[in-house]
Amino acid sequence: MDKIIELIEKAEKTHDLKRDEIIELLKDEEHMNELFSAADRVRKKYVGDEVELRGLIEFSNICKRNCMYCGLRRDNSKLKRYRLTEEEIIDFARKAKGYGYQTVVLQSGEDDYYTVSRMKHIVSEIKKLDLAITLSIGEKTFEEYKAYREVNSDRYLIRIETTDKKLYEDLDPGMSHENRKRCLADLKKLGYEVGSGCLVGLPNQTIESLADDILFFKEIDADMLGVGPFIPNEDTPLGNEKKGDFYLSVKVMALIRLLMLDINIPATTAMESLVPEGRSIALKAGANVVMPNVTEGEYRKLYALYPGKICVNDTPGHCRQCISLKISKIGRTVSLTKGFRKKTAKL
Ligand code: 5AD
Ligand code: SF4
Ligand code: FES
Repeated sequence: MDKIIELIEKAEKTHDLKRDEIIELLKDEEHMNELFSAADRVRKKYVGDEVELRGLIEFSNICKRNCMYCGLRRDNSKLKRYRLTEEEIIDFARKAKGYGYQTVVLQSGEDDYYTVSRMKHIVSEIKKLDLAITLSIGEKTFEEYKAYREVNSDRYLIRIETTDKKLYEDLDPGMSHENRKRCLADLKKLGYEVGSGCLVGLPNQTIESLADDILFFKEIDADMLGVGPFIPNEDTPLGNEKKGDFYLSVKVMALIRLLMLDINIPATTAMESLVPEGRSIALKAGANVVMPNVTEGEYRKLYALYPGKICVNDTPGHCRQCISLKISKIGRTVSLTKGFRKKTAKL
C-alpha cells in the first residue's frame, strides 16, 4: 500500500505520529483528500456534528507591537486607528447575545489603554449576560491573567505564531519567544481554556518547523488551535512576500485534529479570505468552530490584519445568517451551548 495512505491510517488509528511522519504528510500533495477525510471522521467521532460559534469583537486596532506580518503593527502609519469605549464593547456583546451567540471573543492589538480595571469592568458586565468570554489581547503578566480569571474569563487565545524561535524573534521584533511560552504556561496554570495556533507560509518558515508546531501544541495540551495562512499586507515590511499556501494550512489543521482528537479547532477567517468557501473546506477537514465577526460599522474594515479579509462590508446579522447557511449546506448544525472542550478523548 502507498506509504502516505499507511501513515494516514496510522494517524487515525493511533493518534500518534513521529516528527518525520508528520513532515511526510505535510509534503504530500497526492493524498490530501484522504488526510482531510480521516480528520473529518475523527472530528465527528470526538466532537460531533455541531459547529461552535464564537462572536468576535475587534475592540481596538491600536498595538504597541511591531510584528512584521501584521497590518496593526505600530509603525503602520497608513491605518486609521480606533478604540471602542467600555460601554460600546459591552453593547456589542449584548447584541451578539441577541444573535444567539453563547461566547464572545474580545480581541484587540496590545493596547495599554485597556488597563486591568477597565478590562475587569468589561468582562464582569459581559459575564452578567451569561456569555462565555474568550480574551485575545496579547502578552500580559501572570498577575494580569490572574485578575481576568478572577472575574471569570473562560478562555484565552494567544497564538505561538511559530515555534521556530529565530523566525519568531526576526518577525516579531522586540518580542521574546520564551515570554510567549511563559504566557501559555501561565494561562494553563490559571485554569483558562487555552487557545493557540500558528501562521502557515511565513517567509523562511520550513515544513519541518510546522511539524514542530504541531508537536508543540500536543505537548502543551492546548484546548483550541487556530491555523491560518500568512497573507501579505502591503502596508507591512512583508508586503512583497509570497502568500501562504491554503492547502498546506488545511493539512496542518487536519493533522492537529488527528493527533489532538477532542480540542476545538476553528475554520479560520484567513482561510476563507484566501480561498472562497475556505471555512467550509476546513469544517470538512477537522474544524468544528467558526468565529463570525460581530463588530459593527467601519471598525471591521479598520481591523486590517491582512488584505482581502472577508465580511468587512457585512453586518453581524448578515454574517450570522450567512454562516448558518454554510453550516447547514455541509450537513452540520449550529451548537446551542457555550462550547467548552468536550474532553471525550481518553488517551
Ligand atoms: N496574515 C494572516 N494572519 C495574520 N495575523 C496577523 N497578521 C496576519 C497576516 N498578514 C494573525 C496572527 C495573529 C492573529 C490575530 O492574526 O496570527 O495572532
Ligand atoms: Fe499587534 Fe498582534 Fe498584530 Fe503583532 S499580530 S502587531 S501583537 S495585533
Ligand atoms: Fe460574514 Fe459570510 S460570515 S458574510
